[in-house]
Amino acid sequence: MPWLRHLALLLAAGCAFGSPTAHAGVLSARADDTESNSDASEPVGTHATSPPFYPSPWMDGSGAWGEAYEKAQDFVRQLTLLEKVNLTTGVGWEGEGCVGNVGTIPRLGFKSLCMQDSPLGVRLADYVSAFPAGGTVAASWDRDLWYRRGFAMGMEHRLKGVDVQLGPVVGPLGRAPEGGRNWEGFSPDPVLSGIAVAATVKGIQDAGVIACTKHYILNEQEHFRQAPEAIGYGYNITESVSSNVDDVTLHELYLWPFADAIRAGTGSIMCSYNQVNNSYSCQNSHLLNGILKGELGFQGFVMSDWQAQHSGVSSALAGLDMTMPGDTLFLTGRSFWGANLTLAVLNGTVPEWRLDDMATRIMAAYFFVGRDKIDVPVNFNSWTQDTFGYEHAAASEDYTQVNWHVDVRAGHGHAIREMAADSIVLLKNSNGALPLTGEEQLTAVFGADADANPYGPNGCPNRGCDNGTLAMGWGSGTANFPYLVTPLTAIQNVVLRNYASVESVTDNWATSQIATLARRASVALVFVDADSGEGFISIDGNEGDRNNLTIWRGGEQLVQNVSALCNNTIVVIHSVGPVLLSSFYDSPNVTAILWAGLPGEQSGNSLVDVLYGAVNPSGKLPFTFGINREDYGADLLYTPNNGNAAPQQDFTEGTLIDYRYFEAKNITPVYPFGHGLSYTTFEYSDLDITVTGAGAYVPTSGLTAPAPTLGNASNSSFEDYVFPTDFHQVPLYIYPWLNGSDAADASDDPSYGADASTYLPPNAQNGSAQARVRGSGAPGGHPALWDVLAEVRFTVTNTGDRGGAEVAQVYLAGPSGEVRVLRGFEKVSLGPGGNTEVVVPLTRRDLSRWDGGVGDWVLVSGSRGVWVGGGLGDLRLSGGVDVGGGS
Ligand SMILES: *[C@@H]1O[C@H](CO)[C@@H](O)[C@H](O)[C@H]1NC(C)=O
Ligand SMILES: *[C@@H]1O[C@H](CO)[C@@H](O)[C@H](O)[C@H]1NC(C)=O
Ligand SMILES: *[C@@H]1O[C@H](CO)[C@@H](O)[C@H](O)[C@H]1NC(C)=O
Ligand SMILES: *[C@@H]1O[C@H](CO)[C@@H](O)[C@H](O)[C@H]1NC(C)=O
Ligand SMILES: *[C@@H]1O[C@H](CO)[C@@H](O)[C@H](O)[C@H]1NC(C)=O
Ligand SMILES: *[C@@H]1O[C@H](CO)[C@@H](O)[C@H](O)[C@H]1NC(C)=O
Ligand SMILES: *[C@@H]1O[C@H](CO)[C@@H](O)[C@H](O)[C@H]1NC(C)=O
Ligand SMILES: *[C@@H]1O[C@H](CO)[C@@H](O)[C@H](O)[C@H]1NC(C)=O
Ligand SMILES: *[C@@H]1O[C@H](CO)[C@@H](O)[C@H](O)[C@H]1NC(C)=O
Repeated sequence: MPWLRHLALLLAAGCAFGSPTAHAGVLSARADDTESNSDASEPVGTHATSPPFYPSPWMDGSGAWGEAYEKAQDFVRQLTLLEKVNLTTGVGWEGEGCVGNVGTIPRLGFKSLCMQDSPLGVRLADYVSAFPAGGTVAASWDRDLWYRRGFAMGMEHRLKGVDVQLGPVVGPLGRAPEGGRNWEGFSPDPVLSGIAVAATVKGIQDAGVIACTKHYILNEQEHFRQAPEAIGYGYNITESVSSNVDDVTLHELYLWPFADAIRAGTGSIMCSYNQVNNSYSCQNSHLLNGILKGELGFQGFVMSDWQAQHSGVSSALAGLDMTMPGDTLFLTGRSFWGANLTLAVLNGTVPEWRLDDMATRIMAAYFFVGRDKIDVPVNFNSWTQDTFGYEHAAASEDYTQVNWHVDVRAGHGHAIREMAADSIVLLKNSNGALPLTGEEQLTAVFGADADANPYGPNGCPNRGCDNGTLAMGWGSGTANFPYLVTPLTAIQNVVLRNYASVESVTDNWATSQIATLARRASVALVFVDADSGEGFISIDGNEGDRNNLTIWRGGEQLVQNVSALCNNTIVVIHSVGPVLLSSFYDSPNVTAILWAGLPGEQSGNSLVDVLYGAVNPSGKLPFTFGINREDYGADLLYTPNNGNAAPQQDFTEGTLIDYRYFEAKNITPVYPFGHGLSYTTFEYSDLDITVTGAGAYVPTSGLTAPAPTLGNASNSSFEDYVFPTDFHQVPLYIYPWLNGSDAADASDDPSYGADASTYLPPNAQNGSAQARVRGSGAPGGHPALWDVLAEVRFTVTNTGDRGGAEVAQVYLAGPSGEVRVLRGFEKVSLGPGGNTEVVVPLTRRDLSRWDGGVGDWVLVSGSRGVWVGGGLGDLRLSGGVDVGGGS
């Protein structure tokens, strides 16, 4: 039904409030029963569209959400229309002290909900911790560490008065290593990311703060994520980039960790800036209504990224529940919701059950994490660090105390040191170069990346420079450092305990001083880095995304200059992801290489713990170090390819990103996915794969309940919703009230009153019982997807003379030669000579493939290869598994 698809395109593109995106809606032919891991065989065409899904599924309290659902319904039942709108609509950029706030309900003494960045700590606040980034702790492969990090971050947000922590991140997933914000998330592998995000969500929410898992979805590059931003760097486009993806790739790769986050109970999901199949992520009904709330049974609320909402009625009906920061664009004083949402409900365009559902979802998340039992007022301000400032910064109004400088760190520095140390990956270690003793006669330290930023650790707003040691990327995914222990300081501390000698040259271009010191050194430690971040800041021409994969600040030359003269050169890399190492990694003089990621405030301390052997390294690569940029296959779009209209980014590589592409194309990496050395050695033995009996998969069927009606419908006249007389309106602030009783005037929209039947999708207003989605059943998807269908058992033995931890990984291939993919892992700590049996369960989801024709996961029949080992380049045991299949 091409006409329907075409219609959906127009509707999803925001007809209610704007001009539709002009695309022909040309569909590429695509069979639905495709093999996984196929690349290019099923291209998804430029100008692809998403099929419509209406009505927006209302919350039903499934899974663990029953109690929170009832409390939320009881709460929302008491609310007036205006109060419900207040819960859903932000007060505008810099309207209150957090990066986002919704309105209040003064009648019930209900304070504003406070949304605050970031995924690695409390952003824009003082006396907070700067945790290691997501992409760094991914390298620990340690579920308990992820949980503890989430809990500690959650506690810091809680004690600052934050309701919603804007993290963790699994979008970007990391389609291409150049992606600017990859480091905020975990890994381009969906299984590793999924387990990490679930543990993090649980940690944050156990601390009584709502997690906001973001950015949903396919937000895989910074370039062209927002048209106004792109105009700022010289590209006159009118709409955001469209990520065009097929159904299999969506489910098997990008959606996978979101499903895990939802299963773990994430109270909130943030929709992203980009379009998907030419429909904005915050109004794509297929993705929000159909997949998130239908198939994945998401019970919490969907919040827009800041300025990612592009329509009022369309986004409401497509499943958006909260608009952030509330104004159409920063500081317009206008909103797609606020008064417009009040009007849309009053004039019958947005059914009241949809607004009730938005409010119920928001309040359910609030009760789900126990925020009703926590009473910490917001005690910081995002817009000034001074004690006094404006309560409403946008309007420079109400000068008062805004910062109480509450120290919320509670000794987290110690844990941060451990977390970062456990995330360091030892890539190379020849001739037992490491660990060092600290008694080396002359330790030489090289590189700007070893030393402090001359502007101070927080000297560049949003960490928007590459000066001094790199311990965090740039953008909104940051926090202020309470201190930053540099590698140089920490190394000096160790060496000075032994009264040995340490000297440094931290100017990367001081070649003669570098040579003089390198020649004399007993050991040379060379620090190099590569940075990236969010698209609103550009560094050295990198618009968020990296322009290349080489090391920054002349680091390659620095390593060469030092290693040419010193036969014991140790390289430490601080980077947002992979960098090209070909110029030095196999030099005999480069005796060790460590990847330390973005370690946060304890950078130097965590590093010396590994360098000097207090901690035996146990990190494993959460991505691949390749030889060339081209080896990764997928790359970003750096120049618009569609005139002034939305750039089209076709994900033609399918699921073949990072190591999957290397495997499929037989490309040899420098250091493969999962790689990481230890100061001890491990042996694997006794592989045993058993198929366990699980019940049959019964697809979900039947009908939902009709949309609940909460309280009395609001059917009064417009004049009852006008601002109260003598109400003082803070300039630029977004309110739910109307400016006057003339609806068209109050809407401030020349197209107000257009006949809804000309643009509303069929069923969008339908609150009657609906067919349930086949693969649904509980938050995260059908519960039977987590049935364990097979178990992989084996023994790991520590064969060295030092205690250490090994990350034992299980990879599974398809029956027809599809590449191996990670399906499970376990991190085990073993004393010298110790051994343990490891059991890695394989679930129905692990053993299935998404079948677009069926619209569900289907078990893969036939014999499949199973590999076990300490990384893709270190597979020690292999066997096979066949769980039957067909259903
Ligand atoms: C995008 O369009 C392709 C091609 O028409 C289709 O197969 C796929 O399911 C769509 N994906 C989404 C997320 O709408
Ligand atoms: C909506 O929230 C604002 C504060 O953001 C508050 O001033 C106003 O009274 C609230 N409106 C209603 C109807 O509760
Ligand atoms: C950008 O493109 C739009 C639409 O094509 C056009 O109206 C506008 O003049 C262009 N602006 C600049 C600065 O080129
Ligand atoms: C209502 O939304 C439109 C955009 O669709 C916007 O132009 C208008 O200013 C909004 N009205 C109010 C009162 O914010
Ligand atoms: C209802 O209100 C919305 C929001 O202002 C507006 O876009 C729409 O045109 C209105 N529809 C009717 C039929 O009045
Ligand atoms: C700081 O960083 C900026 C941008 O990365 C660079 O231009 C400048 O030279 C650096 N300054 C110092 C002192 O490192
Ligand atoms: C790669 O980008 C970095 C940072 O902008 C720059 O310093 C370096 O010179 C670039 N490398 C190449 C080979 O262009
Ligand atoms: C290794 O270092 C020694 C000095 O210790 C130097 O003579 C030699 O040329 C270096 N080799 C390489 C390959 O850089
Ligand atoms: C490294 O160089 C030192 C002297 O600079 C020498 O004593 C040592 O044998 C060399 N080691 C190797 C492995 O070449």
